Amino acid sequence: MHIKNLYLKNFRNYGEERFEFSPALNVLFGKNAQGKTNCAEAVFYLCTGTSMRARRDRQMIKEGQTSANIGCVCCGRYGDVTIDAVIGESGREIRVNGNKISRNADLLGNVYAVFFSPQELRLIQDGPDERRRFLNISISQLSKSYYTALSRYNKILEQRNNLLKNRDISLVMDTLPVWDVQLCRYAAEIAVRRTEYLKKLSPLAEEAHAYLTDGQEKLEISPEKKYKGDEEELSARLFDELSNNYDRDIRLGYTASGPHRDDLDITINGQDAKNFASQGQTRTAALAIKLAEVNIFREACGEYPVLILDDVMSELDLPRRKKLVARTEGLQTIITCTHAERVLYGREVNKIMIEGGAIKR
Ligand SMILES: Nc1ncnc2c1ncn2[C@@H]1O[C@H](COP(=O)(O)OP(=O)(O)O)[C@@H](O)[C@H]1O
Ligand SMILES: [Mg+2]
Repeated sequence: MHIKNLYLKNFRNYGEERFEFSPALNVLFGKNAQGKTNCAEAVFYLCTGTSMRARRDRQMIKEGQTSANIGCVCCGRYGDVTIDAVIGESGREIRVNGNKISRNADLLGNVYAVFFSPQELRLIQDGPDERRRFLNISISQLSKSYYTALSRYNKILEQRNNLLKNRDISLVMDTLPVWDVQLCRYAAEIAVRRTEYLKKLSPLAEEAHAYLTDGQEKLEISPEKKYKGDEEELSARLFDELSNNYDRDIRLGYTASGPHRDDLDITINGQDAKNFASQGQTRTAALAIKLAEVNIFREACGEYPVLILDDVMSELDLPRRKKLVARTEGLQTIITCTHAERVLYGREVNKIMIEGGAIKR
């Protein structure tokens, strides 16, 4: 699948602009702080309903304006899909083929996107939050039911955490078991989907990593080991775990176990990547995981996702840059960089120069 064109109005530093993309390699280039990443962000937002960097949608509205409009036409195996979003100060409205959607789940699965930027090193280096965020965004694109379970889980979890702070202990003790039944059903679904996903991702990431390192290093990813069994067993086990820890959770004022606290192990040559990998190894591992994500989407839906590479070329050495570009054969890629020449290597490229929130024509 690919994005044919993109429309931005009052989005970040853009006034009004239209982009035409090629189904192959697109390079957005220009000096720093001109709007390259902003454009990539709009693409990712239209695919997933989420920004990879704004915590709140309204940050994306151009300063001094009250709303932003973005839209694109995508071409997939079922024909063209039009996606439009209006982002206002108090909310947003997304339309797919002109029909307003009421849940973000209904946006997911129209166009798959994989986003990679230097920030993605956090996937390896940072705490478990980043790894869960990666899993949540990636699996949600593949499974509406995962997305829905996750939203419901988070809602009940928030209520549970508020309840834990209530001083009426008998109310707390009476209510917890009731809520936990629900919570654990969603928790089990989340855990099972993550395990399934990682089972597919691990060999693909290992392969991509071997490709990037010429077989010199071995990347391994493994999920939480405690999650064995089917959804029903898991749900019962999680319920027991929560029940046995009411005191702890009440003392802490929050729920200290469950999929919102889980992590996964990433090792390079058997060593924990978070603590032992060099900057270069971290970068390669993160990239391998992203390339694996591309292939997961490909396997799941029979089509390649749109690959967005934000500012990563300059961070890679020449051999890896070449390998990466070689891997983008056959899929739409949107690259942002400061120097377009660096990524050409003889390929047909749609070059777009960005200056001051506009295309320089
Ligand atoms: N909501 C906003 N309104 C206006 N300008 C914004 C907004 N958000 C970001 N910007 C501006 O966008 C520019 C950064 O754009 P970005 O796409 O990140 O640059 P780059 O071309 O380096 O990738 C900065 O000048 C920043 O001030
Ligand atoms: Mg940028």
